Amino acid sequence: MAEFSEIKNITVLGAGAMGYGIAQVVLMAGYSVTVVDVEEEIVNKGVLKIEQGLEKAQSKGKLEEGVSISDIMLKCKKSTDLSSAVKESDFVFEAIVEKLEVKKQVCKVVMKNAPPHCIFASNTSTFRITDIAKDSNRPENVIGMHFFFPVVLQCCVEVMKGEESSDKALDLGVEIGKNLPCLKGERLTVRIEKESPGFIANRLLIPPNIYLSWIFDKAFERSIPWEQIDADAEARKLTPMGPCELTDYLGVDTTYNSMKSYERIFSKDFAPGKVLTNLVETGHLGRKSGQGFYDWTRGKAEINLDKKAGVLNPEMIMAIMLNEGCKLLEEKIVSGYKIIDDVMLAGTSMSGPFSPGKRNYEKWSRMLEDFVKKSSKNFLKPCDLMKSGGFINMRR
Ligand code: NAI
Repeated sequence: MAEFSEIKNITVLGAGAMGYGIAQVVLMAGYSVTVVDVEEEIVNKGVLKIEQGLEKAQSKGKLEEGVSISDIMLKCKKSTDLSSAVKESDFVFEAIVEKLEVKKQVCKVVMKNAPPHCIFASNTSTFRITDIAKDSNRPENVIGMHFFFPVVLQCCVEVMKGEESSDKALDLGVEIGKNLPCLKGERLTVRIEKESPGFIANRLLIPPNIYLSWIFDKAFERSIPWEQIDADAEARKLTPMGPCELTDYLGVDTTYNSMKSYERIFSKDFAPGKVLTNLVETGHLGRKSGQGFYDWTRGKAEINLDKKAGVLNPEMIMAIMLNEGCKLLEEKIVSGYKIIDDVMLAGTSMSGPFSPGKRNYEKWSRMLEDFVKKSSKNFLKPCDLMKSGGFINMRR
C-alpha cells in the first residue's frame, strides 16, 4: 500500500452534488484529479461546478497565494471510461448513485484495473463498506469516507472501516481527510474503527425520516400544504430548514434510497411512504430536477412560513436522534457522545441531540413511546440507555 506522501493521482467517481465538491477540495489540496461519470455532458457540468467553486473560493481569499484557477484546473482530467481512468490512481473517491449493486460493480472494476496499492473510499450514505467491497479482489483496501453537502463548506469527514479493511487503509484515509481544505475552518476527520452503516451522522439523520415520511402522508391525506409542515419545524428553530425544503435540497431520491437501504439493513419501518415514493417515481427529485415538494426552477424555492399546520412536532426529530445516538453508544461504535455532537455540528451545522437530551430524555422517551403506539413504527422505541439517562455520564 502507498504511503501518504506517495499519493498523487486521485480519481473521483460521480460528478454530481458530492462528486464535484470532493473533486474541488482534492484539487485545492494540490492533487491531480480525474473526474469520472457515465456521460460526457454530466462530467462537463461537474467540472464547470468545480471551476465556479474555485472562483468563489478565490473571491474569499481561500486559494493558496500564487496559485491560479487555471493552474489548478490543469490538474483536472475528465473521463467516462472507468477502467482506463483508474489505471494510475493512488486513491479513488466513490460518490456515485446510492445503489448497492452499482457501487459493488464499480468497486470491483476499480480494484481490478487500478494499481494494487490503490485505496477505494466510498461516500455511501447507508451501505456497509463490507458489502461494497465484497466482490472486489482487495477488500482490505476499501474504506468508507463520508463527506457532507456542500463539501467545501461542511467541515466534517467520517472515515470508517469495513470488516475487512486494513488499519493502514484507514490510516491513509484519515491522513487524506485531514489534508483536504474546508472554507469554514479546519476539517474534522473522524476515525471510526467499527462498521456502522451510515457512519455516525446518518445513523442519527436517517431514522427521523420514518417519522417525517409518516407526517408527509398524513399531511397529504388532509391536503395540508407543505409549507405549513415546514412552518411547524421553523417554530422551534431546531433544524436549519423545514423537512420538505431539506429533502428537496438534499435530493428526494437521496432520502428515498437511504430509507430503502435502511429498510433492508435495519427494519421494515424505513419503507418510504406514499408521498416520497410518488415524488421519486414521477422524477420530482427536488432542487436538482427543478421540482420536488417545491418549485426550484427559478432558483431557491419560495416558501411562505407564515401559517403552521400544527402536525409536526420538531422535538420528535431531536428525540429520535438522541435515541439513535444512545444506540451508537450501546453498540460501541463510539465511546462517548461528544464526538457524535461534534460530527453533527461540523457536518450539518446543526447541534447534536445530547445537550438538550440531558434535560429532556424522560419527556422525549415518553414522546417516542406514544408515537410507536400510534404508528407501530417499533424501530423508534427508546433504548435503555436513553430511558435511564445512563448516557449522561458517557461524554468521552
Ligand atoms: P447525484 O445524483 O447528485 O450524483 C451521482 C452521480 O453518479 C450522477 O452524476 C450519476 O450520473 C453518477 N453515476 C451513476 N452511476 C455511475 C457509474 N457507474 N460511474 C460513474 N458515475 C456514476 O448524487 P449525490 O448527492 O452526489 O450522491 C452521491 C453519493 O454520495 C451517494 O452515495 C449519496 O448517498 C452520498 N452522499 C450524498 C450526500 C448529499 O447530501 N447529497 C451527502 C453525503 C453522501
